[in-house]
Amino acid sequence: MKVLVTGGAGFIGSNLVDKLIDRGHLVVVIDNLSAGKRENINENAKFYAADMLDTDRLNEIFSLEKPEVVYHLAAQTMLRKSIEDPICDAKTNILGTISILEACRMNDIKRIIYTSTGGARVGEPDYLPVDEKHPLRPSSPYGISKHSAEHYVEAYCGLYELDYLIFCFGNVYGPRDPPECKRLVPFFMDMIQKNNVPKIFGDGTNTRDYIYVMDLANFMAECIDKSSSSKLFHLANGKEISVNEVYEVLKKVTGFEKDAEKISEVKGEVKKIVLDISLAQKELGWNPTTELEEGIKNTWSWLNNK
Ligand SMILES: NC(=O)c1ccc[n+]([C@@H]2O[C@H](COP(=O)([O-])OP(=O)(O)OC[C@H]3O[C@@H](n4cnc5c(N)ncnc54)[C@H](O)[C@@H]3O)[C@@H](O)[C@H]2O)c1
Repeated sequence: MKVLVTGGAGFIGSNLVDKLIDRGHLVVVIDNLSAGKRENINENAKFYAADMLDTDRLNEIFSLEKPEVVYHLAAQTMLRKSIEDPICDAKTNILGTISILEACRMNDIKRIIYTSTGGARVGEPDYLPVDEKHPLRPSSPYGISKHSAEHYVEAYCGLYELDYLIFCFGNVYGPRDPPECKRLVPFFMDMIQKNNVPKIFGDGTNTRDYIYVMDLANFMAECIDKSSSSKLFHLANGKEISVNEVYEVLKKVTGFEKDAEKISEVKGEVKKIVLDISLAQKELGWNPTTELEEGIKNTWSWLNNK
């Protein structure tokens, strides 16, 4: 199939592109390289360095390429940056998604797969594990913008004949996750590599649901033409892991011996979260297999061979 991936030079998008190409699909990538890297892009993909907010350019690319499926991953993905600059965050994540949906509408695209966040859209949970029916009270501009765009996807699919899936991820980690984005695993690995002591926000008991990027990319590629009665799914591991536990695994894998420094918490970040993944298991056959230690080992060896 002909597939278009927005954000295909980024961390998750580029891993997805590799898996789609492995499966024999023709892949077109749109990315403005604001966070993504040219070196991440599979040499067999057709690449357009374009900004999704440039609607004329987007329309030109869509009408030239005529993809059958669009995976929409391009986004401003940093929660802390969304607090510092909520306008930029909303422009990219809300207006950017509307741009993509408009290009789909004008070019008669039949299917879109949108990627959202499992944690930031929920806010501080009422219960754990958080299922897809949990009330949503996002406590950061990032959570709000990613969730708002879900409504546009749903509305467009109701208004026009566009089939869709929405995947809400846990905390994704693995090769190509850049330390500049300051997500826990690559950021700490980078500090460890430089023999600097990592700093943990809070006392380290905050929890997340970590998912290895290869499990995710493989599965998303598999879902290219899967249909289901539900449309929005959590894709995570379903295991609650604290920052302290991740740090212990990092020490074991890297051989780093120093303890982390504990500093004050960041406002807007959820304290504890783990996602209920049973809907995706039941309806789509989601079955992540990579344990945290194995995923961290793979990521560490990728970083050292870069
Ligand atoms: N990494 C995670 O843990 C995580 C968790 C939940 C959801 N997500 C979602 O997954 C998707 C991919 O995230 P990622 O971690 O790979 O982040 P990433 O920053 O590596 O990838 C996003 C890509 O979008 C591109 N981009 C940004 N603005 C653009 C624009 N205006 N036009 C064109 N391209 C643009 C960037 O250059 C980058 O390559 C995002 O939608 C994110 O919200 C990620």
